[in-house]
Amino acid sequence: MSFTVAIDGPAAAGKGTISLAVAAHFGFAHLDTGLLYRAVGRRMLRGEEPLSAAQTLTAADLDGEDLRGPDVAQAASKVAVIPEVRAALVDFQRAFAARAGGAVLDGRDIGTVICPEAQVKLFVTASAEVRAERRLAELEAKGLKTDYGTVLADVRERDARDAERATAPMLAADDATLLDTSTLSIEAAVARAIAVVEAAR
Ligand code: CDP
Repeated sequence: MSFTVAIDGPAAAGKGTISLAVAAHFGFAHLDTGLLYRAVGRRMLRGEEPLSAAQTLTAADLDGEDLRGPDVAQAASKVAVIPEVRAALVDFQRAFAARAGGAVLDGRDIGTVICPEAQVKLFVTASAEVRAERRLAELEAKGLKTDYGTVLADVRERDARDAERATAPMLAADDATLLDTSTLSIEAAVARAIAVVEAAR
């Protein structure tokens, strides 16, 4: 039996940390779907056509420190607007969601488009300022030189592009549980997410 937890929300809201913790707690597999778009975005930055990149992604495309960087994030949100690119990534995500033993997928459109039948849907948010602070700390911890204003601008620009695109915009599903992490510690946010999943099992 498959059991799918869909976790959506804007950039740096805490989806990744919550997803990993939920997956570890319940023994579920985890897919960060943002990495797929980042991988396509990085290949576009290297000169490839986004659709052919999306159609030929391999596991090796998901390696490398720069995949998590801000330049690749911007490229990801640009290729993510292209309906054919999104379509090329659907089957892989759905197959992952259907695997036996349970799966957590995090992204922007998991509860709305990829897995509308997911047993649990969470929409994780936080104010843009809080998200920018968290992302700045993450990037600095990796040794990347940047500043708060640049990170806040990146977060806002991607939020706008992700929310306004015509195909699979970032949107809370009608039946999603909203989790605003602006004033929550990571432990508290994780505990709430685990409680929502527990209630649905
Ligand atoms: O980690 P962060 O929240 O900053 O971004 P991400 O989840 O790695 O996603 C990078 C970009 O990929 C987003 O800004 C979206 O444009 C796109 N994306 C998407 O369109 N659909 C998804 N399911 C996941 C990511």
